[in-house]
Amino acid sequence: MIDIKLNNNKSEIEIYEDCLAILEHLIIKTDKLISNMSNYIAFLKQSFAKISWIGFYIIENDKLLLGPFQGNVACTEILIGKGVCGTSAIKRETIIVEDVNEFPGHIACDSNSKSEIVVPIIINNQIWGVLDIDSNSKNSFTEIDKLFLEKQIDFLIATLDFTKFILR
Ligand code: SME
Repeated sequence: MIDIKLNNNKSEIEIYEDCLAILEHLIIKTDKLISNMSNYIAFLKQSFAKISWIGFYIIENDKLLLGPFQGNVACTEILIGKGVCGTSAIKRETIIVEDVNEFPGHIACDSNSKSEIVVPIIINNQIWGVLDIDSNSKNSFTEIDKLFLEKQIDFLIATLDFTKFILR
């Protein structure tokens, strides 16, 4: 039984440090990718009130396909190069969008979304997919989120065999 208690009076850095420690117990080194990915996004969403939507998009051919997520219904497919997710995938870099209205080509799955961060997932030097996180407030994500989310993704890549993931 995993009892997750995060103190909301803590700073974001402290919460992220707690998250890393908890993830080492929550994420199990198995080939059960969907189970682990689902628990990871549920855990992050319950850890940060600022997150309105969080999910994975996974590359198949020239598209990003919706994977495990938490939040309102979202776009099923995004073309590589389109939107924040497709741009992060093609550039292979984390993108922080302080105000989605200022990002040309932003794809509005949810009109309440105001800011966003997208972290690419690169396996064996190939883009595998992205982690997408939205917030209903502007300026929700900073370099702190980038630093710790990239650490978390590195941990997931080291622990889980993403190459065995099957979308259907
Ligand atoms: N806003 C994203 C689309 C996905 S939703 O936010 C869940 C984008 O521009 O790529």
